[in-house]
Amino acid sequence: MVSTAKFARNILCIGAGYVGGPTMAMIAARCPQYKVTVVDINAARIAAWNSDALPIYEPGLLGVVKEARGRNLFFSTDIEAAIKDAEIIFVSVNTPTKTFGAGAGKAADLQYWEKTARMIKRVSTEPKIIVEKSTLPVRTAAAMSRILNANGNNIHFEVLSNPEFLAEGTAVEDMKNPDRVLIGAPDTPSGIKARDIMVEVYANWIPRDRILTSNVWSAELSKLVANAFLAQRISSINSISVLCEKTEADVAEVARSIGMDSRIGSRFLASSVGFGGSCFQKDILNLVYIAESYGLHEVASYWESVVLMNNYQKRRFVANMIAAMFNTVADKRIAVFGFAFKADTGDTRESPAIAVVRQLLDERARVVITDPEALDNAKTDLADCLDQVEMVSDPYMAAQGAHAIAICTEWQQYKVLDYKKIFDSMEKPACIFDGRNILDHEKLFAIGFNVFSIGKPARKHY
Ligand SMILES: NC(=O)c1ccc[n+]([C@@H]2O[C@H](COP(=O)([O-])OP(=O)(O)OC[C@H]3O[C@@H](n4cnc5c(N)ncnc54)[C@H](O)[C@@H]3O)[C@@H](O)[C@H]2O)c1
Repeated sequence: MVSTAKFARNILCIGAGYVGGPTMAMIAARCPQYKVTVVDINAARIAAWNSDALPIYEPGLLGVVKEARGRNLFFSTDIEAAIKDAEIIFVSVNTPTKTFGAGAGKAADLQYWEKTARMIKRVSTEPKIIVEKSTLPVRTAAAMSRILNANGNNIHFEVLSNPEFLAEGTAVEDMKNPDRVLIGAPDTPSGIKARDIMVEVYANWIPRDRILTSNVWSAELSKLVANAFLAQRISSINSISVLCEKTEADVAEVARSIGMDSRIGSRFLASSVGFGGSCFQKDILNLVYIAESYGLHEVASYWESVVLMNNYQKRRFVANMIAAMFNTVADKRIAVFGFAFKADTGDTRESPAIAVVRQLLDERARVVITDPEALDNAKTDLADCLDQVEMVSDPYMAAQGAHAIAICTEWQQYKVLDYKKIFDSMEKPACIFDGRNILDHEKLFAIGFNVFSIGKPARKHY
């Protein structure tokens, strides 16, 4: 272990995932005076963070990691030693939706968080600031504080909430220049002292007026609410996409005109096959569960409808494919372009492509998947049916002999493919289902494709 003596502060992060790795790399790069260590129980992940083949794909991340790694940024599996050594501990472990017992399918599974808290308590010999970086149900900090400060060693742990608002795909830019950083702290002398230390850490590169402080519960709840509002915008515009398809309105034109209203704003109004990612659905369901547990059934069903609309949009996409392809896709080759839940990431958690592929397999289609970054994760997601799908990294090969292409991820490279060459290699009639509305539909139609998009009239040659 590298000596801490020469560093002004000693920061640890437990959990080296999509959040822990990039956020700590950024703190280390911007604050060379601090020692930053990231630990994980997953040794393969730590080994990857110590190599040039990082465990996650994120534009610009390798440069940030390389700037600090070995200088003041360290990745390790020695969790206990790192805990003993640290003054500030970020906890960024996963908090997935519970799959068992009470609240299964909605509540957050806090077992990883709690195990971490118990280990911190067991190993520590000095007081520490514990920072919730994971997204957690409101009032989790109280439970954690109770576990950490329960009878025993008389060491005080101050639990703060510092939710992470980065978006995968733009994580580096989001962290360099965040809209805001939020630090929730108890309104006690030790809480305020810990809060001021955290403000000082972020003030190394973030203007003070963007560092917000609040009470712990507001910080915890704000993260769930931010994701609920973002997902709600997508479900709202997707609900309108269905109406557009029935009325010959065009959802892109509607989104453009409402988005120019400064009260509404233009972002998150792109209609699509549906949202994915590890957070939106999980965090809304968590909010729903919390509301239900307080007996607030109207509040719960209001937010749950955002997820229900998203499920409908995914199902509808495949139903439209089947209807357009003469009511059967059995034994038809279908090329799925993109498996990541969005562009510029290899993350496939809750990706709409998973639901699309599974439905197509249920209909006995022959599915071939292509994606520039996500095929390894796709193999894990579809482990139970790998014998029924083909995966190739070259989209031209994927499309060869296919009856249809389904665009599931908005990768930039799919906009600039040679679609004439692709059309010539496909079975006819050749269909494109643009689940992200990213292609030039007029041009594709002129080439000879039958083009089906979201919330726009279909362009058919038959
Ligand atoms: N992914 C995002 O875009 C995003 C954005 C904001 C917030 N969040 C939240 O951040 C948290 C982490 O998300 P993520 O996407 O980084 O998850 P992740 O699954 O990529 O990473 C979590 C890591 O924690 C490790 N871990 C679990 N238990 C551990 C333990 N006891 N000791 C050491 N390591 C342990 C796992 O091995 C894993 O590598 C979640 O609560 C999530 O909701 C995620």
